[in-house]
Amino acid sequence: MAEDWHAADVHNTTTRERTRTMIHEIIPFPVRPWTLNGISERMLVSHYENDYGGAVRTLNAVRSDLAALDDKTPGDRIRSLKREELLAMGSVTLHELYFGNLGGEGNKIPDQVRAMLEEHFGSVAAWRREFLGAARSLAGGSGWVQAAVDAAPVLALDMYEHAYHMDFGANAVAYIDAFMRNVDWAAVIERMDAVRADRSLPSDDPSDQSLPSLSIEELTARLAKGEPVQVVDARPRHHISRNVDLMEGAIWHDPDRVEEWIGELSPDQPVAVYCAYGFHVGCNVAKALRERGFDARYIRGGVSAWYAAGGARALRPAGA
Ligand SMILES: [Fe+2]
Repeated sequence: MAEDWHAADVHNTTTRERTRTMIHEIIPFPVRPWTLNGISERMLVSHYENDYGGAVRTLNAVRSDLAALDDKTPGDRIRSLKREELLAMGSVTLHELYFGNLGGEGNKIPDQVRAMLEEHFGSVAAWRREFLGAARSLAGGSGWVQAAVDAAPVLALDMYEHAYHMDFGANAVAYIDAFMRNVDWAAVIERMDAVRADRSLPSDDPSDQSLPSLSIEELTARLAKGEPVQVVDARPRHHISRNVDLMEGAIWHDPDRVEEWIGELSPDQPVAVYCAYGFHVGCNVAKALRERGFDARYIRGGVSAWYAAGGARALRPAGA
């Protein structure tokens, strides 16, 4: 077992710990992106990696500029940075809410939501008229539509073109219908409950908490220090065959044939395993390696979170 990995105490950061640091961590996909009804995995992943990831990268860049200010910095420079920070923070938060409120059966509105909508709007139909009307009015434009409780958003709909153009072209109405079919009302209820109880909004991190893991930011910090982390790409063969690139420095190994390649790993150096989004595959491989005595961790959010954070890509070697 690699002692330095443990000595440095890489642990799962909690939300509270994350907010103490300046860096906003990319959240892992809160929804399995291949499970949506009429919204493609390709579009959702592009949205997450490029647009959400871009907002997080902007936010972190602005915060690092702010941290570098001194007493001589002119007020207008501070003001413009704070304005940029607010804009980026809004985009980051709304995207996290948006991905987190997808993945359900949107057509089945639970009684609890129904009662709430009837109380405040008169009927579900009246609420839909307002919500969908606001969304349709943004077709060809851009913006967010939100349902809020006490000014806190509990349902977010992204009406920027990047949210739908790949699947729907200019047909924003079809996108809005698809969005409504996929609303995860359970997530909305959790948020409503949190607002009412004056708690912070629940985190949608679906990562396996029972296994040691690493965030992208923790991995980046370790690699930057030159630590000898063996990074294993464990995406299933059918997934990797559709993708020409992988995380720079990683080696692809078939997750179904661990016994065949485990001998290539160095037993005294830590292993970081990733899959596409950080759900089960990477976890299973990390678990198998741990059972064989390796100090293995899975990477939360998978390679998608790595790309979203701006991590470097490499071309997969032919035949691998
Ligand atoms: Fe977006």
